[in-house]
Amino acid sequence: MIHIVLRWDFHVVVFQPQPHFQSLFKSGQNPSSSSSRNDDAISRLPALFYVPQLSFSSGDMLLVHAKPTSEWWWAELHGVIGYVPASVIRQEPDEEEEPVEDPWQDEEYFGSYKTLKLHLEMLSDKSRTEAYRHVIFNNSAALRGKVVMDLGCGTGIISLFCAQLAQPSVVYAVEACSMAAYTRQLVKQNGFEEVVTVLQGRAEEIQLPEKVDVLVSEWMGSCLLFEFMVESVLLARDRWLKEGAVTWPSSAALTLVPCQADGYYAEKMAFWEHPYGLDFTPLQPLARQEFFTKPRFSHLVEPAECLAAPCHVIRLDMYTLQIRDLEVLGRFLFCVERSGIFHEFTAWFTVHFNSMEAEGSAVELDTGPSAEPTHWKRTLFMLDRPVSVCAGDSISGTIVLRRNPVWRRHMNVFLHWSINGSTEDVGTKTFPMWR
Ligand SMILES: C[S@@+](CC[C@H](N)C(=O)[O-])C[C@H]1O[C@@H](n2cnc3c(N)ncnc32)[C@H](O)[C@@H]1O
Repeated sequence: MIHIVLRWDFHVVVFQPQPHFQSLFKSGQNPSSSSSRNDDAISRLPALFYVPQLSFSSGDMLLVHAKPTSEWWWAELHGVIGYVPASVIRQEPDEEEEPVEDPWQDEEYFGSYKTLKLHLEMLSDKSRTEAYRHVIFNNSAALRGKVVMDLGCGTGIISLFCAQLAQPSVVYAVEACSMAAYTRQLVKQNGFEEVVTVLQGRAEEIQLPEKVDVLVSEWMGSCLLFEFMVESVLLARDRWLKEGAVTWPSSAALTLVPCQADGYYAEKMAFWEHPYGLDFTPLQPLARQEFFTKPRFSHLVEPAECLAAPCHVIRLDMYTLQIRDLEVLGRFLFCVERSGIFHEFTAWFTVHFNSMEAEGSAVELDTGPSAEPTHWKRTLFMLDRPVSVCAGDSISGTIVLRRNPVWRRHMNVFLHWSINGSTEDVGTKTFPMWR
């Protein structure tokens, strides 16, 4: 028997002598997935048109991600995941693996925020920074006398906006890395030390003298969740937010769209077809492995490259979201609007900041192709092989975001798709972000 153990997950071997078993992907992992338009369309499809199936046979090694019940386990084989009856599998013992010391890689993560490089990039991102300023400005009257927590304040920009544009009673600016010492100086330099108190420490560990009326944070990563700073926000929300208080952002959505990416495909893959009049195609499998295995982060898709209308595949409500919900399943159904080559899926996110006033309007920060580019750019998931699609075709499937069981800031994105509901014209690919 082979022993492959992935840290805290474990592998199991199917031991019952059954020829073949199929497990359907269960819906309902994410109560808030999919847009209503998408939901309606999906509900009209026969189930097998869009649900990927986990098939396995005796002797297969499955990776078990979770044991939600004693009868059914959530497991993966070749990038497809689904529920598997626990009775047909046997666990391989983990004899060698020690738990890692720093699964959050805090030294590296917070280390990257103690120099100016990232802060310059973030502060130079006008769409991002102005969105937060706009929120504070729009809510300046409601913020008067309120207690605010700015989680992960960095250089303190959001706290400074609060002090400059509103009159909160206090802003607790919490920052884990040593940038906090400079933030204190910036607060003083701008004359706001009466209002802004900088606290250096992890939000999970610091003590505030009181609960807060507003929890504001800029926690979003590539593909919305990458780096999982959101977990710190959820813990702080549950610990420090007063009843009925405000969380900014208040909700978030991940959007997906199938795209044509001629330029990128030509640069990384078609290039090998005949450089200098020679046939270099034997290098294409290597190119696929090297350039298309991981997502491409800094991609700026043009609206004209989208083959269909984008759809929200995952929606998070920051008031009710739980840490366990961060492993989410979203569904999509795209109707192809123009014929072309389907090279990749592109993802981006949008966040909303609800107004503190009943009649006030929400502020939106959209990182998609029809908005001003932000430093997040967009995340591109390249298919292994391009597919020709025609206007009127459907592309349906699922996206699953699953955290790396060891490295808690990393995740895997599983994509499964089918063209026109066909059981043959299907694809499945797992993208590690970043391990
Ligand atoms: C994306 S940056 C945002 C910085 C700043 N709020 C801004 O908008 O420019 C996130 C910041 O949060 C800090 N941070 C992340 N997780 C934290 C935690 N659990 N406790 C305290 N600070 C944290 C990081 O060190 C980093 O400076």
